[in-house]
Amino acid sequence: MELKSLTYTSWARPGISDADIEAILRSARTNNPLDGLTGVLIFNGGAFVQILEGSEQAVNEIVGRLCTDKRHSNLFIREERLIEERAFPDWSMAYLRLEDDEFLGEDKVQRALARSMPESTRNIIKALTQSMPVAR
Ligand SMILES: Cc1cc2nc3c(=O)[nH]c(=O)nc-3n(C[C@H](O)[C@H](O)[C@H](O)COP(=O)(O)O)c2cc1C
Repeated sequence: MELKSLTYTSWARPGISDADIEAILRSARTNNPLDGLTGVLIFNGGAFVQILEGSEQAVNEIVGRLCTDKRHSNLFIREERLIEERAFPDWSMAYLRLEDDEFLGEDKVQRALARSMPESTRNIIKALTQSMPVAR
């Protein structure tokens, strides 16, 4: 089966709460195994970076749903490609909460994710988290 990996960034709704994040992760961890999706969600208080991987159809469907989700806005697809194997095979949705600080964030991401993923994926996360807006 051909696998697709899609990376997007978005702005969190101002005032988004811990309960909102918990609800998002609950949905992801319930639905994604059924949809054959895996990935990681990174949040720094102001913006999200999410990598989704799965069949082309499953990825396209979840992105369609995400585009209408009011808990974030300005969803911008940064990268989309076919992959041979998953970078997050063991994660229905890994979650990484960064400090509201770009540099700390980069450092933390690199440490948390470095071992288990291809360098190409790591480089994408690094570039995106460096440019993530700092939360207010
Ligand atoms: C930043 C963000 C990431 C999300 N990631 C996922 C996801 O990986 N899988 C998923 O099913 N829903 C995800 N959601 C929620 C979907 O937009 C949607 O609310 C949900 O899939 C609806 O299914 P439910 O009724 O079972 O919760 C995410 C929402 C946001 C704001």
